[in-house]
Amino acid sequence: MPDFTSEFWSWYVAIPTVLGLVFCVILIWANSSSRDISDKEETMGHVWDEDLEEYNNPLPKWWLNMFYITLIFGAVYLVLFPGLGTFAGALGWSSKARYDKEVSQAEASFAPLYQAYLETPIDQLSQNGDAMGTARRIYSTNCATCHGSDARGATGFPNLRDHSWLYGGEEAAIKTTLNNGRKAAMPSWITVLGETGVDEVSEYVYSLTREPVNPQYVESGKQKFQTMCAACHGQDAKGNPALGAPNLTDNIWLYGGSLGAIKESLIKGRNGIMPAFDEHLNDSQIHLLVAYLNSISDPKNQ
Ligand code: HEC
Ligand code: HEC
Repeated sequence: MPDFTSEFWSWYVAIPTVLGLVFCVILIWANSSSRDISDKEETMGHVWDEDLEEYNNPLPKWWLNMFYITLIFGAVYLVLFPGLGTFAGALGWSSKARYDKEVSQAEASFAPLYQAYLETPIDQLSQNGDAMGTARRIYSTNCATCHGSDARGATGFPNLRDHSWLYGGEEAAIKTTLNNGRKAAMPSWITVLGETGVDEVSEYVYSLTREPVNPQYVESGKQKFQTMCAACHGQDAKGNPALGAPNLTDNIWLYGGSLGAIKESLIKGRNGIMPAFDEHLNDSQIHLLVAYLNSISDPKNQ
């Protein structure tokens, strides 16, 4: 793909455009001025059906004038607006500048409302129907693709209504999550633990919420868990919000709680990524989203 902002391509577009205009002017001028209007008897010399002839009459005046007006319009347009290669036009108009202006006008008109939202405490804001309508639209546009339109999540994408938070559910923690994003780092354990080790630890983790399938593995699995896993998931396996290490005892699973899914988490490692939104959303929009998450996880609104 050629770089159309380069000088060569700019001339490549501009020269034929100008020559095209000049050519049209010459063509029209030659056709209108070369013949006397009253000379109606001259024919093109073609004869059809014995007596049907074609006169060589000049072009009608009104038609010629329309043509001149069109040419003048085209020339003036190309001087004022962008059209000749990279020449920006005498008026400096651009579709981007117009768009930016519309955006900043819209932002200016919403600014007082957004400012008022930002100053409203989360609990109060989540009761405000208008604000939550706006927040739902922000959620649908930015978050629903991953967390689902009902915010109940999917495998690998946390449910945002269940009061179980990887990184903590306080206002400040959620704001950090939304502004900065999160990168979970759970390494793969297969080389460290080997297959039997993975079986043992998986069995222990499984036994925290259900009847173990191979009870003989649970004790050795627990010991391995204390040395390898407790640093992040805690001695009691209740997780650590500072690292986003999930609670493994609450039967809420990001990647599935079957023995197979737990093994897969250990063998592959898990590295969920929540993107940062501080460049796409302003402080008020983030504040609205926190209030929205608060409102949808309220048992009254379930
Ligand atoms: C590209 C997919 C994606 C998008 C878009 C996305 N998220 Fe996330 N989000 C994730 C993933 C994955 C995680 C879990 C990260 C992890 O595994 O630690 C997450 C985690 C979170 C958490 C932390 C949950 C907890 O339990 O602590 C919150 C809150 C959150 N997202 C809210 C949002 C909101 C609000 C939006 C829209 C502004 C959004 N997310 C957009 C993928 C996404
Ligand atoms: C360096 C910190 C760290 C260590 C050590 C660690 N984990 Fe994790 N673990 C995490 C994080 C962070 C996640 C969340 C991954 C994500 O959100 O994508 C996680 C996720 C998991 C999950 C998936 C939970 C779910 O809800 O689906 C399981 C199971 C798990 N870890 C078990 C273990 C076991 C067993 C060990 C020890 C062999 C271990 N982890 C060691 C940080 C760690």
